[in-house]
Amino acid sequence: MSDDRVRDQYEAYPYPPRDPREETKRLIEGSPSHRLEIDHYIFAGQRDWRQPFRALVAGGGTGDGLVMLAQQLADAGCPAEIHYLDLSHASRNIAEARIRARELESVTFHAAAIEQLPRLGLGSFDYIDCCGVLHHLADPIAGLRILAASLSPTGGIGLMVYGEFGRSGVYPMQDLLRMLGESDPAEKRIETAKRLLRQLPATNLFARNPVLGDHLRAGDAGIHDLLLHARDRAYRVAELVALIDAAGLAPTALIEPWRYDPASYFADQKLLAPLNALDRWQRAAAAELIAGNLKTHIAYAVPKGRASLAVADPEDPSAVPVLKGGDGIELARGLRPGGKLTVKADGVEARFATSAGTGPILAAIDGRRSIAQIAALLAEQDIKRWSPAYFAGEFAAAYKLFNALNRLFLTRAG
Ligand SMILES: C[S@@+](CC[C@H](N)C(=O)[O-])C[C@H]1O[C@@H](n2cnc3c(N)ncnc32)[C@H](O)[C@@H]1O
Repeated sequence: MSDDRVRDQYEAYPYPPRDPREETKRLIEGSPSHRLEIDHYIFAGQRDWRQPFRALVAGGGTGDGLVMLAQQLADAGCPAEIHYLDLSHASRNIAEARIRARELESVTFHAAAIEQLPRLGLGSFDYIDCCGVLHHLADPIAGLRILAASLSPTGGIGLMVYGEFGRSGVYPMQDLLRMLGESDPAEKRIETAKRLLRQLPATNLFARNPVLGDHLRAGDAGIHDLLLHARDRAYRVAELVALIDAAGLAPTALIEPWRYDPASYFADQKLLAPLNALDRWQRAAAAELIAGNLKTHIAYAVPKGRASLAVADPEDPSAVPVLKGGDGIELARGLRPGGKLTVKADGVEARFATSAGTGPILAAIDGRRSIAQIAALLAEQDIKRWSPAYFAGEFAAAYKLFNALNRLFLTRAG
């Protein structure tokens, strides 16, 4: 099937639909490509953001990842150079208007396909965002190889591809809608899809999938993107890891980490023990099978051989912990000492034990103090309680939990 149909779809229905006027009211933040995640999973929490940074947003669409990255780099005072690439002019116009609305000057726009990147001569990048794009390519491995070849040796990629199980029911619906009029014009196909959605029996796999609301709240573009797409496929974790491997890269994280840990879903050691014997990505594959609700997979990846060097080290006392989306004091206030924390995502509810020291540690995290300074501060408050060994154990527990929840990251001082 030709790439023209994918391009035509995104010319007619840019996705996700965005109104540039909203930029004055809110910044949409997410994964991949949050600056804290990039730092933590690609630059070992060591990046000096005052140094120049070159990024490519490949298949940037209407600009969510682009706008977030450009704004966060500007806020950090980073001399950034960001290149946006997409084959849809309509999407690019929206992304460009959003960047203009924010008066950001770091972005250059290119109307081109990923497959044409080598010919553009843009040089190498510290970071590449490719969110929700590879699964639409005729040859995703070739596409990812092209991106990997454009990475600087110390750079990395943030990816999102569809997940198989959370999209349960989507592909049978796509098959059905092709039977109902594959060659009809898009508007007619959307009408057919709406008519069908209203009349599905309760047993229909799509109707039975409770986690697929997002697209259906995004108007005609959402229905088209989900149910009438010209070309998309979904990945299991093992297939995503194989895709990353085939491009000469290695994963450093799956986001959010807790969703890829079997122990998030049950505590039965008889069931967990055999899974604990597996490697990290096989455990993630098991977690995906257990949860059955992962509709996307978000991964960070770096050139093979650099994976162990790329991730921040929570045992480095000079590292500075930073909480994403809210301050530590507020987070600590909601925690009873040693209480349980409940987290919900796509219909699953997980409960995590916290430790008595979690609250005071969170409250001391201000994005400026290093781990060593937090230890010193707490010892100053109560020297008997906060011995170095006690702090080390409590910090490790707090880090493990809040990093798994995608809230806690490490950066460098300064
Ligand atoms: C679902 S949208 C995702 C947009 C954006 N990355 C985001 O996360 O909001 C997919 C985008 O990929 C673009 N795209 C599809 N195939 C492409 C290709 N071969 N090269 C460049 N862009 C492509 C489409 O035009 C569309 O804008």
